[in-house]
Amino acid sequence: MDEKTIQTLIETALAMRQRSYAPYSNFHVGAALLGADGRIYSGCNIENAAFTPTNCAERTAFFKAVSEGQREFQAIAIAGGKKDAVTLEYCAPCGVCRQVIMEFVNPQNFQIILARSAREYQIFTLEQLLPHGFGAGNLEGE
Ligand code: THU
Repeated sequence: MDEKTIQTLIETALAMRQRSYAPYSNFHVGAALLGADGRIYSGCNIENAAFTPTNCAERTAFFKAVSEGQREFQAIAIAGGKKDAVTLEYCAPCGVCRQVIMEFVNPQNFQIILARSAREYQIFTLEQLLPHGFGAGNLEGE
């Protein structure tokens, strides 16, 4: 992935933190998912008074994309931290989101960009964050 694309994804994820609905945790997360078509599907976390219906930013982005017909993806950028944090920490996807990502990507290729800022980021493959993941391939065969 070229540096310009990485920067666009990170800027989108950082901007999406503004849309976060997180009155209970005050932890605002934004995500920017790059489809195989080059389109970016954005997402934020959406909390709920009953807590468990909360949707993470990553899943919001994936569910938006799949519901709009996109099922192939190249990368996702994630930026998260307390609402008024001056410096963000690296926010890695939760276990549920890793499993949702597993459903739609090749874990060896798909890039997960964890960003603290446009300049500070780390890139992992899904395989690095979800080793020996269970996926659709496990259900194939006789
Ligand atoms: N959250 C995300 O949206 N993505 C992550 O990668 C980690 C956690 C959200 C869920 C909840 O709204 C808040 O952050 C605190 O857990």
